[in-house]
Amino acid sequence: MYMISNPLPEACPHLYDNFLRAMPLVIPGDVRTGAPSRPKVFVNCAMTADGKIALPDGTRLTISSEEDFGRVHRLRNSCDAILVGINTILKDDPSLLVKARFVNDPRRPLRVVLDSKGRIPASATVLDTRAHTLIAVAKGSEGKALQKAKGRPNVHVRAFGKGRVDLRQLMKALATMGVRSVLVEGGGETIWSFLGAGLVDEMTIFVGNMVVGGRGPTPASGDGARRPKDAIPLELVSVQRMPGGVLLRYRPAQKK
Ligand SMILES: NC(=O)c1ccc[n+]([C@@H]2O[C@H](COP(=O)([O-])OP(=O)(O)OC[C@H]3O[C@@H](n4cnc5c(N)ncnc54)[C@H](OP(=O)(O)O)[C@@H]3O)[C@@H](O)[C@H]2O)c1
Repeated sequence: MYMISNPLPEACPHLYDNFLRAMPLVIPGDVRTGAPSRPKVFVNCAMTADGKIALPDGTRLTISSEEDFGRVHRLRNSCDAILVGINTILKDDPSLLVKARFVNDPRRPLRVVLDSKGRIPASATVLDTRAHTLIAVAKGSEGKALQKAKGRPNVHVRAFGKGRVDLRQLMKALATMGVRSVLVEGGGETIWSFLGAGLVDEMTIFVGNMVVGGRGPTPASGDGARRPKDAIPLELVSVQRMPGGVLLRYRPAQKK
C-alpha cells in the first residue's frame, strides 16, 4: 500500500491536477458491487473580474487566455462526459470536443445537453457526428428531440423526470452507462442547479483580466439562494496566477 500525500496546490498546480484526477472519490453507491451512485462532477467556467460569463445580452465572450484554454481542453480530455444547458447551445453553439492543438491524443467524451423541452436546433454543432451526444429531456419531450436526432446514430434522447431534467436521475443513468466523470461547463442556470443539488465535487473558475459591466449571465444564476443560510459554502483549495487572469479552485464545504 502506498501513501500519497496531497501536493500543495499553489506550489505545483499541474501535480495537483494529476492528483485530483487519480484520487478515487468515495460517493455512496451500491454497497454490494462498490459501483458509485453518480459520476464525479467538475464544474468549470470563465468569468470577468466583474463576475460575468458573457456579454450583457448573453453573447459569447472570450475570457480565457490560450493557456487557460489548454487547461480546459486537458480537463475535458480527462472526463467521460461534458455537459451544458440548452441556453449555452442556443447562444454559443459549442462543439464540446477536445481540440487536438491542446491535447496529443484527444478523446471524444460524451456530450450531454440539458434540454427539458427538446428545443435544440437540428443544426446544433453538438449534434454532428464527431462524438456521441445525449439530449436529456423531461418526460413528454422525447418525440420533439427525437426528430432532431433522426438519422444520426450518434445522438441519443432520454427523459429524466417531469417538467425539468432531474439531475439526480441523469447522474444515476450516466453512472450506469459507465460515465465516471462529468465536466459541467455552464451556463449559470445549469451550474446553480448542480450546486443546489449538492452534486459538485470540484469547481474551477478562471477570472479573466477584464470587465464587461451590464446585467449579463453570471457563473451561478437560476433561482439563487432565498435566504442567507441557503448560500452554498465553498472551500478555496488553490489560487493560481495564469497568463490573462487567475484560476480559483473550490470544493463545496460543509454548512455550519
Ligand atoms: N464563460 C463561460 O465559461 C461560459 C460557459 C458556458 C456558457 N456561458 C454563457 O452562459 C449563458 C447561458 O447560460 P444560462 O444560465 O442562460 O443557461 P444554461 O445554463 O446554458 O441553460 C439553462 C437551461 O437548461 C435547461 N435545463 C434543463 N434542466 C435543467 C436543470 N435541471 N437545471 C438547469 N437548467 C436546466 C433549462 O431550459 P429548459 O427548461 O428549456 O430545458 C434552462 O433554462 C450564455 O450567454 C453563454 O455564453 C459562459
